[in-house]
Amino acid sequence: MCGIVGAVAQRDVSEILVEGLKRLEYRGYDSAGVAILDDEGNIGRARRVGKVQELDNALIEQPISGGTGIAHTRWATHGEPSERNAHPHLSCDEIAVVHNGIIENHVELRERLRGLGYVFASDTDTEVICHLVHHEMKSADSLLAAVQATVKQLHGAYGTVVMDKRQPQRLVVARSGSPLVIGYGVGEHFVASDQLALLPVTRRFAFLEEGDVAEVTRREVTIFDTDGNPVEREITESNVTHDAGDKGQYRHYMMKEIFEQPAALQRTLDGRLANGAVLPEAFGDNAAELLAQVKHVQIIACGTSYHAGMTARYWLEQHAGVSCNVEIASEFRYRRSHVFPNSLLVTISQSGETADTLAALRLAKEMGYMASLTICNVPGSSLVRESDMAYMMKAGAEIGVASTKAFTVQLAALAMLTGAIGAHNGMTAETQAALVQSLQMLPSKVEQALGLDDAIAALAEDFADKHHALFLGRGDQYPIAMEGALKLKEISYIHAEAYASGELKHGPLALIDADMPVIVVAPNNELLEKLKSNVEEVRARGGLMYVFADVDAKFESDDTMKVINVPHCDEFIAPIIYTLPLQLLSYYVALIKGTDVDQPRNLAKSVTVE
Ligand code: AGP
Ligand code: GLU
Repeated sequence: MCGIVGAVAQRDVSEILVEGLKRLEYRGYDSAGVAILDDEGNIGRARRVGKVQELDNALIEQPISGGTGIAHTRWATHGEPSERNAHPHLSCDEIAVVHNGIIENHVELRERLRGLGYVFASDTDTEVICHLVHHEMKSADSLLAAVQATVKQLHGAYGTVVMDKRQPQRLVVARSGSPLVIGYGVGEHFVASDQLALLPVTRRFAFLEEGDVAEVTRREVTIFDTDGNPVEREITESNVTHDAGDKGQYRHYMMKEIFEQPAALQRTLDGRLANGAVLPEAFGDNAAELLAQVKHVQIIACGTSYHAGMTARYWLEQHAGVSCNVEIASEFRYRRSHVFPNSLLVTISQSGETADTLAALRLAKEMGYMASLTICNVPGSSLVRESDMAYMMKAGAEIGVASTKAFTVQLAALAMLTGAIGAHNGMTAETQAALVQSLQMLPSKVEQALGLDDAIAALAEDFADKHHALFLGRGDQYPIAMEGALKLKEISYIHAEAYASGELKHGPLALIDADMPVIVVAPNNELLEKLKSNVEEVRARGGLMYVFADVDAKFESDDTMKVINVPHCDEFIAPIIYTLPLQLLSYYVALIKGTDVDQPRNLAKSVTVE
């Protein structure tokens, strides 16, 4: 699920492969490996548990060089993270394979292959691909034909690259469910699961489509579709700018990305607001006509992106005059649901490659939604390519596994969607203009909120010895409390839960004691008085509270409550502004706890498996 890099060149490819893996490190992984067809025609392989640097060190000590190679960072799904389970896997020292995804029928394939005499050296599902290709090579006339025969027998998701020492200077790659991109050089070609890995060697890319199998040699790339027919995939020039090595003045990408938010928000707003209105073209060339017909919105997303969708539901129903459902993609895709007339399907995804979200989009296409829109940060990603409309977030590459700037930019995009749909459903020109004005103030308001940095760093000390935390919010701040809780658990490993504060009395109040810090987000809105009553319920039971509040909300610090004043802002953008202190809090708590902030344990940046 994490990273694949491959190269066929006249020069030694080992450095290209390792550099490519380093550029994919941010995705989170547990082990790394490389296999290179060396100058003697043998496959040399190195694998290490832990960071790519360990692999790099091993290669410095014992270099493997050659012109054809594949490399991988693994995020274990089948079999513990260990050297023997790390990719590439070999069959009879002749075939080498890397794979992202899950082979669902691996048990039955394993049995069959064992019957054919193959001995398994790992616990992974991937190894079946390797032996299956080897077996198919006995009757196929080329590696390409063997891989084509193999993928027909696989159920599940794969992005895979295969190398055969008997057919040097070529790679065969196949995609179904996990992204793969071909990089075009001069007299050399590359493959990767993400174009970022290949930016040092090329900027010309073709994205494989579902079911594609391609043969990649130094001189040629030949792509075939699911039926085995040769196809052309458009080669595009990438304008992605990203230097994975550059954290600037910051210790972690997460902190860099938190502080990039004013600029990222400015970029996402630029050119999309004019004359007191949202320009519908922000959502795609054909969006004006499609958005005018929307009467219902179904939002699908996962994790942080789901929280952005949850917030948008409050906005769309309150200001845009349409009904809205929001659902986690992994639930939506496996349950029967009904499509309202004039229903727009909206997927939200930083990466554009989240397997559950993509599967939900594909399912929804068969269900009769009037159109699909994706709000996405990665140009050329699967969601962008497969949706009718796309809002490109322009947040810039997000490297930290914990999503920060993508979330606030998603919220800005959803606020704009509220304006664009509302314009056709009774939102007055004044309300639209007020919304646009609030949005235009976002970058500077966010900048002000970042000024809380020092105060929050000091506050974080209180959390370092805690095992649990409760986040409370109401209305459109409830999803912000959920996002705050997700951030804290992701990077500091403190168990955190979020509740709509009116729900406290229905159970969670039982948890309140001095060891359970309660974090409250309290802008000055119409629910403030209700929220204050909930705060009193916690106080009466000996709870310790940390309240992020508007100055006018009139909370005062005392023995049971620390109040942090958040810059005053318009109600509409308050969810975006109140996100910032919660991001900072989780960051500083994680710093104190000494966790791996950018690559927290067990997590991956882009979840391309179910
Ligand atoms: C957020 O911090 C996460 N690591 C995770 O929940 C993420 O938001 C989720 O996996 C969805 O990813 P996407 O936006 O790329 O689809
Ligand atoms: N399912 C494979 C394994 O566990 C591939 C995991 C990945 O995508 O990194 O080895």
